Amino acid sequence: MSFVQYSDLIQDGDVIIVYLGHNSVMPVKVQHGAQTQTRYGVIRHSTQLIGQSYGSKVTCSKGGWVQVLHPTPELWTVALPHRTQILYTTDISIIAMMLELKPGSIVCESGTGSGSLSHAILRTIAPSGHLHTVEFHEQRALKVAEEFKEHRVDHLVTVRNQDVCKDGFGVTGVADAVFLDIPSPWEAVKHAKVALKKHGGHLCSFSPCIEQVQRTCEVLADQAFEEISTVEVLLRIHDVRTVSLPLPDFGPDPSSQTEPGPEEEAPPTPSVNHASITMKTTTPPREMPGHTGYLTFATKPRT
Ligand SMILES: C[S@@+](CC[C@H](N)C(=O)[O-])C[C@H]1O[C@@H](n2cnc3c(N)ncnc32)[C@H](O)[C@@H]1O
Repeated sequence: MSFVQYSDLIQDGDVIIVYLGHNSVMPVKVQHGAQTQTRYGVIRHSTQLIGQSYGSKVTCSKGGWVQVLHPTPELWTVALPHRTQILYTTDISIIAMMLELKPGSIVCESGTGSGSLSHAILRTIAPSGHLHTVEFHEQRALKVAEEFKEHRVDHLVTVRNQDVCKDGFGVTGVADAVFLDIPSPWEAVKHAKVALKKHGGHLCSFSPCIEQVQRTCEVLADQAFEEISTVEVLLRIHDVRTVSLPLPDFGPDPSSQTEPGPEEEAPPTPSVNHASITMKTTTPPREMPGHTGYLTFATKPRT
């Protein structure tokens, strides 16, 4: 599923993801009369993009082709222009699960940063939920608000340009979940408690350093949060495939051979063996993406 209101055909104004090859994607805003330069040549928007089905192949002017894809939150995370460090799909998945996000959820988030997590939240809570996201860097707040509009998810989100540690989230007692990705999350815990709904409600805080986690956990406990736990999620990608290998040529089996009789000639020894064997192989990862951060989860007390 893509950004919430995109159809199956590319329309003027859509932001699409152009897939150039493994680990190489670029976001493109489709506009009548515009053209986009890729390493395979030019793509003309009016004739080659508008009206085409998402997922189709488009041949560029130098003859190479690219694939034009729906802007899913997963692809947006890979393609988005970075203004900050961002959260990636591995952490995002467990955040969405542990915060129990679902269509209709009300979520508070700070800081918004480059909007990587925000887009995943928006897809999950659509069509009736709402995201209140707080970012104190004015240019970042403006840029992400512009992107939400371009991606036609702005009706699901309110961007507030303020300091969450001083001014909070701008809502009281309504949030099902609060997410923090700021350098001093412990300073925002009391505001998270105010924003969360009265009964239950989950909090998650992402921090790269364990000292930040320790301070946050201390304040969470002081504020009577329950079920406080910290996890680190590491991704291991296994390469599972079936390969065909040529059989080694050991020559004729000596045990099955008898000495040729006086009138017999020795059989010719095959020099080339065309037989092959099919094998299933699994290669564990040689390299792993390393530490991103710790995720601390807690639940607001029900009393
Ligand atoms: C690491 S980025 C967040 C990245 C985001 N989670 C994403 O996936 O794109 C942290 C952001 O928090 C903002 N920030 C830091 N302290 C803040 C505060 N007290 N109030 C509001 N925003 C804050 C920073 O300006 C920065 O944009």
